[in-house]
Order: sequence, then structure tokens, then C-alpha cells
Amino acid sequence: MNTHSPQECLPGQVMDAQQETAKVVSQRELAAGTYAIRIAAPSIAAAIKPGQFFMIRPTEGTDPLLGRPFALYDTVLDEAGTPIAFEFAYHVIGKMTGIMSGWSEGEQVELWGPLGNGFPVYSGKNLLCVGGGIGYTPFLAVSRETLGHRQYGTDGSRYESTSAANRVTLCYGTQTKSARADLTDFDDITGLDIKISTDDGTEGHHGFVTDLIKEMFDLPETERPDGVYCCGPEPMMHAVARLCFAANIPCWLSLETPMACGFGACFSCVTKVQTEDGEWDYRRTCVEGPIFPAETLAIS
Ligand SMILES: Cc1cc2nc3c(=O)[nH]c(=O)nc-3n(C[C@H](O)[C@H](O)[C@H](O)COP(=O)(O)OP(=O)(O)OC[C@H]3O[C@@H](n4cnc5c(N)ncnc54)[C@H](O)[C@@H]3O)c2cc1C
Ligand code: FES
Repeated sequence: MNTHSPQECLPGQVMDAQQETAKVVSQRELAAGTYAIRIAAPSIAAAIKPGQFFMIRPTEGTDPLLGRPFALYDTVLDEAGTPIAFEFAYHVIGKMTGIMSGWSEGEQVELWGPLGNGFPVYSGKNLLCVGGGIGYTPFLAVSRETLGHRQYGTDGSRYESTSAANRVTLCYGTQTKSARADLTDFDDITGLDIKISTDDGTEGHHGFVTDLIKEMFDLPETERPDGVYCCGPEPMMHAVARLCFAANIPCWLSLETPMACGFGACFSCVTKVQTEDGEWDYRRTCVEGPIFPAETLAIS
């Protein structure tokens, strides 16, 4: 088992965040109501790391007034390997995501990011990523980074103390097959294994994604995951954390707390966290998160 500590979740790099107006390059459908948008923003693309997010809003109008947070799906490189754009994937649920689904090439958007801490560079050998619904999106870049296919951000030194993992497994659960996103983007990631579950049994395992995790935790020690990264609906993340506690496997959760500013000013995003001295306190998900070691959170 590896020995990550909560301190490995670095504080959010608000100082690195930039605000800019950028253009949509393209938009494509990944599943019913789920899309990926590519944005030409070279400086954010060069700086952003897996698990970090950015805020976005239209440049015109005041409704919605507040930006909305979205996680990195992946960066886009030119032929020389220089980041020129990034993509994020989203599911349409309300006002902003409804507007976004109508965006096409050339749309001007206002962005600020990268924000938050991101997932720590994984230092174990066998990482399990668990995505519920749209929560699978951070794990494209996480898989590439963990398996040593790609480095992200401007601080290459953060890779010095780790070597690439042998294996990444993505357990991806959705309610039904039509909600499962097209996973072609994951096809070229050697060393990645994908397991699907659907609540209604229309694809993959019939049942919750946590059933797949139980099976993986029952594997012989040489095949069992030595760490878990998880993103999705809160009840699913709590269930995953409970399984990890029972199996003594370290787990990190990416919280999707609603946010107003994204950079630490409004305190609309606080979550209860256990500090090093064992006391409970509140932390801003946008700055000190969105990734937290599960053992520091109030898991119900
Ligand atoms: C750090 C972070 C990263 C995220 N990354 C992604 C991503 O990569 N892809 C993606 O699709 N979504 C992501 N989200 C969630 C995304 O921000 C919301 O779906 C989005 O803000 C909804 O905006 P809207 O205007 O369309 O919905 P609204 O009109 O604001 O809301 C519609 C309904 O959804 C509820 N709602 C809004 N936000 C949330 C939330 N975060 N959790 C639960 N319920 C909510 C509202 O209460 C309301 O009932 C992320 C959230 C966070 C905090
Ligand atoms: S969203 Fe404003 S402090 Fe976190």
C-alpha cells in the first residue's frame, strides 16, 4: 500500500490563475445531453493540471451573471507538443449549460483559471479512478499523466519524485447506456483498463459502480489498486470512500460543490474538513480543493 498524506494535496494555485476572453474552437456530442467544448486558450492550457478547473461565462449579457466551474478534460497540443487549447466535457443541467450547448466555433467566452489544487501526481503503481456520470471527465488527463504519457502544467519538478504507474483502471458508472459518453478519446492510452456499469443493466455490469470496486478490492494483492481517485455524485463518492476505508486503500474525492467566484473570495463553497490536529473546520472547495483526501472529509 502506498503512503500518501493529506499534505500531498497542494493548496490551490490561485496566483497562477488568469482571466481572459477566448474563442470556442469546436463542440462535439459525447452522449445524450453531454458535450465536449474545445477552447483556444494557450496560457491556461499550458498551466492547467488534471483535476484542476476553470470558471466560464458568456462575454455578453448578465444572465447568468456568475461563471460556472468545469474540470479539465484534456489539453490539446500542436505538432511541436505546445499546448494550444483545452477541452472540457459537460452535461446539460440548467441555465449556463443550456446556453453552452448552443455555442459553436468562434463563440467568445470569458474564462478564469486554472483554479483549485488538482489531483496529486500519483506515486503508487495501480490506480483506480471511479467516475459517476459526468464525473468521469477528469480521468482522461489523470490516466495520461499517471501512466507517463503526458506531463501537465509548467512545474515539471512535480514529476521528479514519482515514476509512472503500471496500471490505471477506470470504473465508469452511469444510469443507462445512452448516458455513457463516447470513450474513443481513451483508446490510445496503453495501460488503461475501462470497466462500465449501468444502473439498469443496458451495458456492462448491471448495478452500481461500487460493485465493480468491491470486485477489484477482492483481487490478489499484486492486482489490487493501491489508491483511488473518485469524482461523481456525493452519495456515490461517500460509498466509494467507505469501501476504501474498509480496505485500507487511500482515496481522494473531487468535490463538485456549487461555486460563485472560484477563487476564494465569497466562501459560498465551503466544506467540512478534519484538520491535522483532529478538529473539524471549514475549507473553501475552490481554493483548498476541489480534491480532498477522503479521510479528512465528513463521510456519512
Ligand atoms: C470544481 C468543479 C468542477 C466541475 N466540473 C464539471 C465538469 O467537468 N462537467 C460538468 O458537466 N459539470 C461540472 N461541474 C458541475 C457544473 O459546474 C454544474 O453542472 C454547472 O455549474 C451547472 O450550471 P447551470 O447554469 O447549467 O445549472 P444551474 O441552472 O445553475 O443549476 C441547475 C440545477 O442544478 C443544480 N446544480 C448546479 N450546480 C450543481 C453542482 N455542482 N452539484 C449539484 N447540483 C448542482 C442547481 O441547484 C439546480 O437545481 C463541476 C463543478 C465543480 C464545483
Ligand atoms: S467559490 Fe467563492 S470562495 Fe469558493
